[in-house]
Formats: sequence, structure tokens, C-alpha cells
Amino acid sequence: MGANIVCLCNRITKSQLEKAIIKHSISNLNELSLATGAGSSCGKCRISMEQILKSTMETVPDMQIRIPWIN
Ligand code: FES
Repeated sequence: MGANIVCLCNRITKSQLEKAIIKHSISNLNELSLATGAGSSCGKCRISMEQILKSTMETVPDMQIRIPWIN
């Protein structure tokens, strides 16, 4: 399948992380870890997770917008 696995311990792919970031409006590493399970074992993938989080937040304009009725 050629899945791009970021977290080997928990077998979490890059696209799973990106989907979780967008779906849950995740803006930090701990939330991403809680939502996906990635980074919760050895922690070696956390640097890659941070890069994916940063680049996803930059490429999805809606992530910048705070929805007033949720806050
Ligand atoms: S590779 Fe992600 S927790 Fe070990």
C-alpha cells in the first residue's frame, strides 16, 4: 500500500495525522497524540508529528479562523 507511516510504534500514517488535525482543529502536539495515539510510546516520531502539524496548519486556511460559537 505504501502507507507513509510516521509513528511506527502505533502504525499511524501521515494522512491519518493530517485528517485528525483538520477534523478536530488540533493546534498542538499533545492534542494530536491524544486524538491519534501517535507519539504515545517511544516518542521518536514526535519531531515528525510537529512538522506535519505545522505544515498542515499553514496549508489549511480555515485552521487560522476561530469559530466564535465554539469558544
Ligand atoms: S514511533 Fe511514534 S511513539 Fe514510537
